[in-house]
Amino acid sequence: MDLRPDLPDPPEPGSFRDSPLSRALAQPLMLGLFLPIQSGGWSPSLEPRSTSWTFDYNADLTLRAEALGFDLVFGLAEWVRHGGYGGVSRFREESLDPFITATALAALTKRIILISTIHILYGPWHPLHLAKFGATLDHIARGRWGVNVVTGYAPREPVMFGMQKVEHDLRYRMADEFTTILKQLWRSSENVSLSGAYWQLEEAFARPQPRYGLPILVSATGSPAGFDYAGRHSDIAFITSPAGAKLENALPALPDHIAAIKAVGRKHGRDLRTLINPMIVCRDTDAEAWDYYERIVRNADQGAVDGYAQHHALADSKAWKNHRPQDRILGGNIHIIGSPDYVTEQLGNLKRAGYDGLQISFFDFMPDLEYFGARVLPLMRQAGLRN
Ligand SMILES: Cc1cc2nc3c(=O)[nH]c(=O)nc-3n(C[C@H](O)[C@H](O)[C@H](O)COP(=O)(O)O)c2cc1C
Repeated sequence: MDLRPDLPDPPEPGSFRDSPLSRALAQPLMLGLFLPIQSGGWSPSLEPRSTSWTFDYNADLTLRAEALGFDLVFGLAEWVRHGGYGGVSRFREESLDPFITATALAALTKRIILISTIHILYGPWHPLHLAKFGATLDHIARGRWGVNVVTGYAPREPVMFGMQKVEHDLRYRMADEFTTILKQLWRSSENVSLSGAYWQLEEAFARPQPRYGLPILVSATGSPAGFDYAGRHSDIAFITSPAGAKLENALPALPDHIAAIKAVGRKHGRDLRTLINPMIVCRDTDAEAWDYYERIVRNADQGAVDGYAQHHALADSKAWKNHRPQDRILGGNIHIIGSPDYVTEQLGNLKRAGYDGLQISFFDFMPDLEYFGARVLPLMRQAGLRN
């Protein structure tokens, strides 16, 4: 059997009316929580807070998000050296693996979608591993699992595995082959033997099949090669603002950016949805929110800010090129800072710009999530952004 990119994909979770993905897509704006499974979350600041990378903290956040009606939770994947990205906080030195974290969360939760970010080219993973492990997790989660495919932009990561860094666009060609094989394994009713450019299989077979044909396929990228991969394979593209973290710069740039990504999806016959990760600082008044933001920034762990900026400077990612090192103190992708009314208005603006979903994060996750649930979610419902 050859590698058969021409074969139709297995049915997708979005084509089942009762799938968790269909339920999430029925919302005017999907709502996810970006779990802080790494120390420091997204913010290299020493301002006191409860946020913790530990499993228990993240399990509590997930259960709370589920109770508040969020559609999904997500964790990022990274391989960080001793000392993390630096500073007195040793930013992100500790980080839970998102695949195993999602497995444990699957057993604790009932409704919320769980996405694991995976570096499919490290190790290297074999598609047969992910076909088996992923379908197992998909069944534990009863169809609520998705994989966020990342190809590894940081040069220090592949060398940890004894590998050389792979050139940017070649990574996406490899990811394309990997995913094509994965789908072939999930679809095939017979043994699969094939010889691709990067992976070989002989009489390989993987059962069970995922509950809804495929798990939810997500990919995080900001480059033409990555968008092409997303257009071919993904239900959801997890993307950055092309104009940096400041909302007033991002909003005018987003409609064309999102329309271009969706056009790539249509070229491949796919209704590609988009997701972005805003960092929300919300207090009763705009002044209080900005005051809190200023405290976060004033207490920056400057060694960590510099170390993280250097990490990005070494990388070949095209997605973050307009994000300034100072924006990384709060972190995330777009900053939304203000009162509940202001935050709701801006979330509406992101929907009008074309986003299908938001993967939000906070500085102090648990109290900020509670506040968001109490003060912003009701306004989102009133504004027609949530059912
Ligand atoms: C929103 C978003 C989230 C990402 N999350 C991760 C991650 O968790 N781990 C990782 O290694 N790369 C992550 N990336 C990096 C991308 O997977 C990609 O490798 C990087 O952006 C370089 O590729 P690009 O030039 O296609 O953007 C993320 C990118 C985006 C846009």
